[in-house]
Amino acid sequence: MRVARVNVIGLATFTAAYPQYSTTRALDDRRARDYPLLDSLGHVYLDYTAGNLVPLSLVDRHTALLRDHLLGNPHSTNPASALATTFVEQARLSVLDFFNADPDEYVVAFTANATQALKLVGEAYPFDAGGEYLLTFDNHNSVNGIREFARAKGCLTTYVPIVLPDMRVDEAELAAHLERGKLGGARLFAYPAQSNFSGVQHPLDWIPLAQERGWDVLLDAAAFTPTNRLDLGRWRPDFVSQSFYKMFGYPTGVGCLIARKAALARLRRPWFAGGTITVASVQGDRFYLAEGASAFEDGTPNYLALPAVAFGLEYLSQIGIDTIHTRVRCLTGWLIERLTGLRHSSGEALARVYGPRSDVRRGGTVTFNFYDPAGRAIDHRDVEERANAAGISLRTGCFCNPGGGEIALGITGTELSSCFHQPEHETHLTIDDFRLCIDGKSTGAVRVSLGLASNLADVEAFVAFAATFVK
Ligand SMILES: Cc1ncc(COP(=O)(O)O)c(C=O)c1O
Repeated sequence: MRVARVNVIGLATFTAAYPQYSTTRALDDRRARDYPLLDSLGHVYLDYTAGNLVPLSLVDRHTALLRDHLLGNPHSTNPASALATTFVEQARLSVLDFFNADPDEYVVAFTANATQALKLVGEAYPFDAGGEYLLTFDNHNSVNGIREFARAKGCLTTYVPIVLPDMRVDEAELAAHLERGKLGGARLFAYPAQSNFSGVQHPLDWIPLAQERGWDVLLDAAAFTPTNRLDLGRWRPDFVSQSFYKMFGYPTGVGCLIARKAALARLRRPWFAGGTITVASVQGDRFYLAEGASAFEDGTPNYLALPAVAFGLEYLSQIGIDTIHTRVRCLTGWLIERLTGLRHSSGEALARVYGPRSDVRRGGTVTFNFYDPAGRAIDHRDVEERANAAGISLRTGCFCNPGGGEIALGITGTELSSCFHQPEHETHLTIDDFRLCIDGKSTGAVRVSLGLASNLADVEAFVAFAATFVK
């Protein structure tokens, strides 16, 4: 068993720099009770942006519910079905309640994950030649992919760049883009509340700014909500995408689209399916979509998992999302400070962080590459291999966020288009071909991310691991 230790001097410096950390001590008990494997295995889990860990108490509570109730497919009225429906509807209300969303204004459609929520919007949004799909560079591919729906309807797609070193948007440039909303047409603006590449938290006050100029706003909250409060009573995006395993680790396979009723009514579903209609006819060749969220829940919902969503949200509320936020903020600030303090004997910094180097307006996702004393990037795949061997779970690559990667790694549009336009790359491109194309530049980075079960020992264990690259 490996045990990560924090030396006394380090602890005193940390405590002095981040006194609020002491208010989050309840999370240490929670870690011991709900995530005992972390310490019994001596595992350093640093991939919370990919997925939270499973809390044992949540599994126990869910298992007890499944053991004590007969639950049937909710698309019926028999008692087993009716009971399942009750739990599904409770889960729906819990989501609205957790995000302080007014049930008169918002609805929740359950999906398999955030990606499916995004696809629901993309495929049904009334894009047309007079409209526009506007999005920031640092979106997850599941948001980028919506451009293909826009393109298929002849609609313009525009990317708003992010700027190094902090990887934030130039707000004057964004404001200029948003002015086009006044031209009319169906216009959708999509951005991540928190980038899963850089950890940047983009301002939520872009939501009213865009809406007042005629845009619908799609807020991808998947990387934000596990450690930050999203108050839909204050901020009123038209659509919000969410995966629950990122928030509380269990269950997988459930996410949701939270949508303003008025915005949902503007969507045009491209098909109908079981569960989404009031009436469909074969001979009459017609279908009538159900009202509201039901029209967006294709097929049987994950009715056995959904009660655990209500429990998971309760779990987060009991701990307090603000407590989680405080802990992650303190640990992130300390991690960045420690990591950027590592230097080779030549004085060169070991790590180049892509994104903000403070704990302000950022989340617990920290992305970087290591460099040798001659300034050459150390291949992220080697870092991952050594981390794996050291019992550290981190992530490398571009994290399904190619725009973030391209900006961070200095890969230009010209390089990319000359690569993609080579005849042999017309239909096929392997990652090795891609590496050759961009002439030895890094194709990826290393990402560590913190979450509700993280502690100081995790950060120190990672810094000790990073120090093994110092020459
Ligand atoms: C910001 C962001 N959006 C969307 C997604 C997609 O989530 P899922 O794979 O659960 O659909 C992710 C996953 O990492 C993400 O980080």
